[in-house]
Amino acid sequence: MQTINRLEDLRNAVDALKIGGKTVAFVPTMGALHEGHLTLVREARARASHVVASIFVNPRQFGPNEDLDAYPRRLAADAALLEAEGAAVLWAPTVDQMYPHGYATNISVSGVSEVACGAARPGHFDGVATVVCKLFNQVRPDFALFGEKDWQQLAIIRRMARDLDLTQPHVSNIIGVETVREASGLALSSRNQYLTEREREQAAGLSAAMRRAISAIESGASVPQALGSLNADIIAAGFASVDYADLRDAATLEAIETFTGQSARLLVAARIGAARLIDNMGVGPK
Ligand code: PAF
Repeated sequence: MQTINRLEDLRNAVDALKIGGKTVAFVPTMGALHEGHLTLVREARARASHVVASIFVNPRQFGPNEDLDAYPRRLAADAALLEAEGAAVLWAPTVDQMYPHGYATNISVSGVSEVACGAARPGHFDGVATVVCKLFNQVRPDFALFGEKDWQQLAIIRRMARDLDLTQPHVSNIIGVETVREASGLALSSRNQYLTEREREQAAGLSAAMRRAISAIESGASVPQALGSLNADIIAAGFASVDYADLRDAATLEAIETFTGQSARLLVAARIGAARLIDNMGVGPK
């Protein structure tokens, strides 16, 4: 695997990978890799001839009260993991390369960025959309893979790719990969490291509560009633508070008050101990 930190070298390396009509799948990350990221790399390998991964801790997606400096950075260990999974190239640009002096462009995807996590983290999804658009233009992949764990992020990136007529990758080749869960049902996340053993056991109650709410909604329960019970169940499981528990359109993230079998997503953010955990699951046709 080549680790590259100059854009010109990246372009040459990707061009070389594409010789003979070979395809490239891209897995963007901020590093601190866990099994969820490695699952993306494995899926990427199954879809394309070569995998390019990136590690870039993107300052533009951190708010003023979010500790950018404390974000874990372990490039050597992450590079070893990516190499073991068969990635061909690791793109690891510096902040100055990504946002050189005078950089002035922001991508803002309205609507879908403004609800759920976007309401609590103003500017966060602009930072994500901006860096992902730049990464797509730098790598120019045939496919890009994102975890469904960050469903809102995936919906925003798809909206952006559609709105900006991106072709590398085309929106149809932006692939969502199913959330990887522990046997308890807890979704894998770098934030799980902040949980004590007891909180980890309690946190498993979140996915169980979500499954109960989904089966109630799919069986015809009223959405406000099912969400009310879900809130209560999450607190009963041991969470301190629920930031949101919403049923939303899977693509636009518009709130759904009445479920009529449309493609929907149950999205939750809740706090336990020092962690704010997010999770989401499909409702209705998958
Ligand atoms: O999901 C992430 O790790 C980041 O938001 C991403 C997509 C790599 C953009 O910085």
